[in-house]
Amino acid sequence: MAINKVMVIGAGQMGAGIAQVFAQAGLSVILNDLDQQALDKGIDGIKKRLERAVEKDRISEPEKNKTLDLLSGTTDMNDASNCDLVVEAVVENMDIKTKVFKSLDEITPEHAILASNTSSLPITEIAAATDRPSQVIGMHFMNPVPVMKLVEIIRAIQTSDETYQAIEDLTKKINKSPVEVEDFPGFVSNRILMPMINEAIYTVHEGVASPEDVDTVMKLGMNHPMGPLTLADFIGLDTCLYIMEVLHEGFGDSKYRPCPLLRKYVKAGWLGKKSGRGFYSYE
Ligand code: CAA
Repeated sequence: MAINKVMVIGAGQMGAGIAQVFAQAGLSVILNDLDQQALDKGIDGIKKRLERAVEKDRISEPEKNKTLDLLSGTTDMNDASNCDLVVEAVVENMDIKTKVFKSLDEITPEHAILASNTSSLPITEIAAATDRPSQVIGMHFMNPVPVMKLVEIIRAIQTSDETYQAIEDLTKKINKSPVEVEDFPGFVSNRILMPMINEAIYTVHEGVASPEDVDTVMKLGMNHPMGPLTLADFIGLDTCLYIMEVLHEGFGDSKYRPCPLLRKYVKAGWLGKKSGRGFYSYE
């Protein structure tokens, strides 16, 4: 199936990054957000990143302009009526996601594929909220989207082989590397990453080492580009806690118990980089 026109729902950090990589690969992209201000911020961010890429000689000025010509913004989800694919990147809340998917099921043409960028919610349950479950799939991009090569492609129990193949082909077309994953809590990425971050938080909580030293061990000892606590601040501590809760509940195994210090930071509003304070200060 040819995918030429895409809508991305949610103009936050992930949604804007996803819209950018689609447009850079030559697809026509509509970025959607309920909030005009969020939409403007998302599109502004894309423009700035492309300008920087021109300055660094990674892309030419005409390439930048071509990408921007392929990109438009809307606050009206009904504009998805002629899209071949919609990728949802809204807040991690099942009620909101199922509402979005139910609306998209009514708005989009019969052949359209509906994908979610959820980092942990069950694609199978999202698919079941639509009348086209075989055309629902997970496309889990990594942050920062323009830089990270991986897309986890998550097959709901209902996802058809045709849908999977179309999304795998598309992932390659946008110069990313697909990995096929079955729909289980945390998929592969967060099932491995989040317990590591949680364990790093336990080592701080138990006074084993300072956040700086924990990060140094993992950077210099394991060659990670960022230490786990810097990465946790970058992802958002609320997101980390949320994903640990999904793993804990989904597997019913105490090894996924979120660290009490992580809970305390989230309760304090210390959410990492976005709130100005997490394990580090960002003033
Ligand atoms: N958006 C777009 N581009 C970005 C960026 C962002 N937020 N942050 C950095 N970059 C780009 C920079 O512009 C730079 O490109 P240029 O050379 O063109 O300037 C390039 O990335 C390298 O950046 P820096 O030199 O500033 O810094 P760095 O070498 O430390 O790299 C990093 C930054 C790529 C983020 C690197 O630290 C890294 O790989 N960190 C780990 C990221 C990671 O683990 N991501 C997965 C998070 S988990 C997830 O996303 C899943 C989930 O569900 C929670």
